[in-house]
Amino acid sequence: MSRVQGSFQEKARARVEVSGLRSWVARELENLVLSFAMIREGEIAIPKSSELSTYLEEAVLSWMEPEKVVAQELMFWQVALHIHTYILKDDVQTDDACGDDEVAGFSMWTLPSKNFRGIWESLILEQDIKNDLVRYCLAALVFSKMDVNTNLVSCNRLILLHGPPGTGKTSLCKAMSQKLSIQLQDEYAHALLFEVHTQGLFSKFFSESAKLVGKTFSRIQSCAADQTTLVFVLIDEVESLTSSREAALSGSEPSDAVRVVNAVLTQVDALRRFPNVFMMTTSNITGAIDTAFVDRADIKQFIGPPSKLARRSILSGALAELARAQIIDDFFPEKGTKELDRLAEATNGFSGRLLRKLPFLTFSKFASAYDKRPIPSIQFLSEMAGVAETERTVRGELASVEQKLRDSRGC
Ligand SMILES: Nc1ncnc2c1ncn2[C@@H]1O[C@H](COP(=O)(O)OP(=O)(O)OP(=O)(O)O)[C@@H](O)[C@H]1O
Ligand SMILES: [Mg+2]
Repeated sequence: MSRVQGSFQEKARARVEVSGLRSWVARELENLVLSFAMIREGEIAIPKSSELSTYLEEAVLSWMEPEKVVAQELMFWQVALHIHTYILKDDVQTDDACGDDEVAGFSMWTLPSKNFRGIWESLILEQDIKNDLVRYCLAALVFSKMDVNTNLVSCNRLILLHGPPGTGKTSLCKAMSQKLSIQLQDEYAHALLFEVHTQGLFSKFFSESAKLVGKTFSRIQSCAADQTTLVFVLIDEVESLTSSREAALSGSEPSDAVRVVNAVLTQVDALRRFPNVFMMTTSNITGAIDTAFVDRADIKQFIGPPSKLARRSILSGALAELARAQIIDDFFPEKGTKELDRLAEATNGFSGRLLRKLPFLTFSKFASAYDKRPIPSIQFLSEMAGVAETERTVRGELASVEQKLRDSRGC
């Protein structure tokens, strides 16, 4: 790792993450970045003529203490670079213990993974949630490394992200584990992410379910036993476990569901004893989460639908990508400012997932007449406003049907 010394009063520390040949890349990249007059956050543009472009897959710069950096860009002499080089891995394993017709118990990624490339940068969330969560994870891992007694200072290394569907909770967990695996590579030689598939834990042979939980978690524990491996465990849509337990307790489902959830909770408690394990859970119905899970979480972070500014940024990023692919003509956010503002306003309440889908839905309107010539971006934007309106109406209708169903069931 290469460091440029300097106290923070004089320099803003920035982290550069680089994938490629290690020390040569780090040195060359540092020279390149410091040759720019101004330095800003985001992907670093490597000139095609530079030898670096042969070896680099990606190079991304982020401020290490963003709250202290007031300007969007700084002069090169104001920045102290900390460069992390890493190789992106392509390794994914899925638990094959289940039968063909059943969902696997878990997937396991070696980090940093090619599959999670760019997710961190693509997520646009409020009030620096991303960096706050990363800081929390770093702090929790320091506590466990320094062997702080958790009976005296409670820290479970477990977070819960909750909020409406499609707001980026699962993506954030994956991006966060990727980010931390890069930042902590001097402390942990390896890093893994296990995604536990809650649906996969319910075997159609009921008595098998608790055994499946045991099998899934014993694999995680065997990896965690090596303290040089940083292990992230993502239990996605945790409400599907807990709602089953509630249903079971009220007598409408077999008691096996109770055993599965209890088995998961026991395993979660067992994993908490490993100082190199960090657990992340997500849910989109907070009300339905078992208090057993809620109480274990150190941080319960609400992830809501994007703000107007975030919506504008998601939409303009998506349009820039269509321009890059030459589906629409050159798109500069300044060019369609009014239209883009109007669209950002009109999509109030839309999730990030729906916003990212809008450009595709819009293009499908043009598809039959598409003659491989880029569509004028202003025309595309105005069509997109129509598509957004239709989506809003359809969503409204669906919500009212759901409400009627709930009313008829007396809920
Ligand atoms: N705030 C956001 N900024 C950018 N992209 C977003 C945002 N929120 C969601 N997305 C995009 O929407 C897609 C769905 O996100 P993801 O699956 O992580 O949501 P989720 O909250 O886990 O949804 P669910 O509750 O249905 O599981 C991803 O492609 C993600 O990049
Ligand atoms: Mg999700």
